[in-house]
Amino acid sequence: MAATPPGAFHVSPVSLTVNGREHRLNLRHHWTLLDVLREQIGLTGSKRGCDRGECGSCTVLLDGRPVYSCQVLALQVGGRPIVTIEGLASDGLLDPVQQAFLEQDGGQCGFCTPGFVMSARALLDANPTPTDDEIREALSGNLCRCNAYGRILASVRAAAGT
Ligand code: FES
Ligand code: FES
Repeated sequence: MAATPPGAFHVSPVSLTVNGREHRLNLRHHWTLLDVLREQIGLTGSKRGCDRGECGSCTVLLDGRPVYSCQVLALQVGGRPIVTIEGLASDGLLDPVQQAFLEQDGGQCGFCTPGFVMSARALLDANPTPTDDEIREALSGNLCRCNAYGRILASVRAAAGT
């Protein structure tokens, strides 16, 4: 393989499966999944807050589990199922977690909301009737700068029907 000249980027083909749809892309090796979702695929629901694995606003589901998409290299997740906030609604209906956040006023500015919704979705998929402590634990990797934690907890409770 020819040497890459200084300043050039390594690029490789990869197929990403996002919200059930395959995207064949040529990606720079240093691009994160968040970079690619937002800037190559055009799914901007996953937010870039800290970009360093602290806030959770970029949370998506990878193999059904919540991950910080700013901390995952896109090249590492080819062929694995990725679900973003845009992939939750189906047939024109919001996911019950989204509906509960709407009804319980679970967002203030809303910047953190997609990340919280994805973490809550993963929790309820694994544990449909969590206790408050289990909800707090599952959402502990998500930060809300508006301090809407009480309404976020109420939203997840409502989604769970508890
Ligand atoms: S933007 Fe990924 S954790 Fe903050
Ligand atoms: S609602 Fe504003 S950061 Fe959470």
